[in-house]
Amino acid sequence: MMPLRFEIRVLPTQSDLFHAAAVEFTECAARAVREHGYFTVALSGGSTPRGMFSLLASGAIPNVPWGKIYFFWGDERHVPPDSPESNYRMANEAMLSKVPVQPANTFRIPAEGKDANDVANAYEQTIQKFFALKPGEFPRFDLVLLGMGPDGHTASLFPGTTALQETKRIFVANWIEKMGDYRFTLTYPAINHAADIAFLVSGPDKATTLQQVLENKLAGLPAQKIQPENGKLLWLVDQASAKTLNMGDLETNLAE
Ligand code: 6PG
Repeated sequence: MMPLRFEIRVLPTQSDLFHAAAVEFTECAARAVREHGYFTVALSGGSTPRGMFSLLASGAIPNVPWGKIYFFWGDERHVPPDSPESNYRMANEAMLSKVPVQPANTFRIPAEGKDANDVANAYEQTIQKFFALKPGEFPRFDLVLLGMGPDGHTASLFPGTTALQETKRIFVANWIEKMGDYRFTLTYPAINHAADIAFLVSGPDKATTLQQVLENKLAGLPAQKIQPENGKLLWLVDQASAKTLNMGDLETNLAE
């Protein structure tokens, strides 16, 4: 069943997608600052968000409350922050190093740590402390940004991995057999507790998977379990990735 507040927006081009995402980010930030004085966001990794980050850093979108934003990451690779694989490095190069963000407001995943479980425990404690959570409670990020891989993974919730079953933890180290290493990731309950969740999906190589995720309830792909408990789910996709979507059916589903 579709989440209570679900929206899919198909943008003509990738740069239109980046613009729509940057505007959504800024509107979520403004709303959060109005409601509680600050904005908490979990950034996604991979390549797609770089264009959005660069646009935000360029100043093209006015009124981004940089001084009131707390940055977290939804997932990370098991690499140091200067690695070309690092999601932190990508966000820092494309945006954080170019805008007036307080370094103390940036909560990087210490992914250079040798013991992956220690890394995950440390970051989980960072989140618990920041959100002043009691044991068993989950954070309510104002916005969680997500991408989607051709295999239907999101954050670092990959098909067939242990973290897919996690119901108690906020943040875990997830062993990815095909990579022979751990990834670090927010869990489903932590993501689904967010006020707003936004997927950014771009490119023809994502079309088949996007159709499966949105139109085939039985596909059993990790991205399908992103269902906010009390929040909004927004899919921002470009025309190339939406080329096989049956928008008519989607709108019918939405109306159900
Ligand atoms: C990561 C991500 C991952 C990403 C998808 C899509 O660390 O890789 O967080 O979930 O969002 O793999 O990646 P692209 O945007 O590069 O296609």
